[in-house]
Amino acid sequence: MQKLVIKGGTALEGEIPLRGAKNSALPLMAATLLCKGETVLENCPRLTDVFSACRILTHTGCRCAMKEHTVVVCADSIKLSEIPESMMQEMRSSIVFLGALLGKTGSCRVYYPGGCELGPRPIDLHIEALCRMGARIERCEGRLDCYAPEGLSGCNIHLKFPSVGATENVMLAAVLAKGETVISNAAREPEICDLAEFLRKCGALIKGDGESTIRIQGVKELRGCTHRIMPDRIAGITYLSAVAVTGGKLKLLGAKDARMDNVLPVLEQAGCRIDKANDAMYLCAPKRLRAVSRLRTMPHPGFPTDVQAIIMALMTVAKGVSVFEENIFECRYRHVDGLVQMGAEIYVSGRIAVVNGVNRLCGAHVAATDLRGGAALVIAGLAAEGTTEVRQVHHIDRGYETIEKTLEGVGANILRISQ
Ligand code: UD1
Repeated sequence: MQKLVIKGGTALEGEIPLRGAKNSALPLMAATLLCKGETVLENCPRLTDVFSACRILTHTGCRCAMKEHTVVVCADSIKLSEIPESMMQEMRSSIVFLGALLGKTGSCRVYYPGGCELGPRPIDLHIEALCRMGARIERCEGRLDCYAPEGLSGCNIHLKFPSVGATENVMLAAVLAKGETVISNAAREPEICDLAEFLRKCGALIKGDGESTIRIQGVKELRGCTHRIMPDRIAGITYLSAVAVTGGKLKLLGAKDARMDNVLPVLEQAGCRIDKANDAMYLCAPKRLRAVSRLRTMPHPGFPTDVQAIIMALMTVAKGVSVFEENIFECRYRHVDGLVQMGAEIYVSGRIAVVNGVNRLCGAHVAATDLRGGAALVIAGLAAEGTTEVRQVHHIDRGYETIEKTLEGVGANILRISQ
């Protein structure tokens, strides 16, 4: 067990390089299964979720090696179309291997990815869509036995909700399917575009990514390529916020294509100055942040649920009252307890959280309950007077590469301690 020990109150200043997006890296790694020859993914973050995906690929018989920030995969030697339950449960996104495995081999056995700290995360949309494409899926004791002996066939798929994972699974299943697949009410997140761009480089025929209707014409084969993973917009907002809460200054490197435009206006409304030049983004924060107008989480291009906790941490010390409305996940206010322990004034009722900014937070002993909620506690710890200890760091390690080193690099007093 490890914890982060933070001595807050110092204004942070310096440079942080932005790595590739976790939420892009995982579907891209699943996509490598579909390719002949070698695939090289550059700018891959060194995260526990990425290591889990490497283990899944290796388990199926693929050659998968990660050196520094480059992952090289060759799926020519794939032997098993099965992922053990323990590996499926290591991360929720393991489900994105379902569409790729089924598309590649015509049959696979996987398991439900397991419960999640954000509330129920059903996969009904994934399953319904794959069944429409001709798959037979038998469910038994948490196991999913999937067959498509004649291969998958393209069809029209309307998603009841623009689920990111379901859109990715259908894309992965459709690129080698017979005929055309049309996904309507598809997710429009930037990571969907990154996946489509990668697949196109490999020979796939995809149009409409980034819009609500995606059209995929199946092809006979895909060939591996070299692809640079898009920068992590959620990590980017996290680092900008970590510095902003201390009244500091940041140069965020590699941020040009980070697609943060739906959140940057919120930081500006809070009083931060943000400039872009070449490949970098510059943030200059005021001494005290201002509250922002009501934030409603929505599918892209709306305000992302993944940064709700991060911006809430900022608002705990902003001047005025901020209101949040969480519309994507049922249990995404679990960071609130930790923030309140640090002196924040937050009132939650159902989907709504009201934050009354206080003059200062005080260090406390708190626990990360999920990935972004954990990052929010670290941000609050940087602003707080005294020492904050954040336990359950493994949640944070799923999405931030050595967060303590990154923040230490801009002057934070933060240590990782093994208990
Ligand atoms: C992805 C992101 C996650 C982000 C989320 C929403 C990755 C690895 N993770 O997760 O960081 O918070 O998008 O932007 O990219 N739903 C169903 N049935 C389904 C699938 C989803 O009801 O079959 C519901 C979920 O319960 C949830 C909502 O749809 O309420 C959004 O889920 P979804 O977009 O699928 O999120 P993920 O792809 O799991």
